[in-house]
Amino acid sequence: MKLVKHLANLGYGTRRAVTEMVKNGFVTRRDGSIVRDGETFDHDDLLINGKPGDPPAGAVLMLHKPTGFVCSAKDTSRLIYELLPPRFLARSPIMAPIGRLDRDTSGLLLLTDDGKINHRLASPRAHLPKVYDAELASDLRGDEDALFASGTLLLNGETTPLRAATLDVLASRRARVTLYEGRYHQVRRMFAAVGNHVVTLHRRSIGGLELGSLEAGQWRELSFDEVAALLP
Ligand code: URA
Repeated sequence: MKLVKHLANLGYGTRRAVTEMVKNGFVTRRDGSIVRDGETFDHDDLLINGKPGDPPAGAVLMLHKPTGFVCSAKDTSRLIYELLPPRFLARSPIMAPIGRLDRDTSGLLLLTDDGKINHRLASPRAHLPKVYDAELASDLRGDEDALFASGTLLLNGETTPLRAATLDVLASRRARVTLYEGRYHQVRRMFAAVGNHVVTLHRRSIGGLELGSLEAGQWRELSFDEVAALLP
């Protein structure tokens, strides 16, 4: 792909604006040489206005979503895109979340601009375990683990039972839940189904991938090996 199209797709500006940037020498290689449109380039070697380029097309990102942000490109609440460079909303295709976390849930959120990867990772067929820590309003009763594992639990308003899930008790009002599917507000509704209420909810990991030292509000690109380990 030509340099101007490549940068315009990454949200660096309209084709006309990016053409000007390139003409004026704002796109260089790491050795300082200017890249002209039409020349071959290696994205990882580019400096745009002196800075390394954004993750290229096909990248997968992890974001440590804080509470209070919604996984949408348009909403009256604060958007996860406020946590990413503003250019990301102008990318084509857009860097879209893989599945969602609700506004009041924090933790690991994956994003990609690759529709096929998004589909593969979001599909229930991927069987990727998603691990959540929940703080509850009431003490656990003691039978929740068996109910969650039964594969027969029905959520309010639904007719298909939930897949078997795992519950580990962390404290009288704290539990770790592992899901293999992702229905709307699933963890909150599962606890509602057993007469409890989720006070805080945090996603720790997806398919063994953890946030590590990534602080709330920060993001990073996954390595090739990290993506390969997630893909079924
Ligand atoms: N379950 C929920 O209730 N909320 C989420 O964001 C994810 C899983």
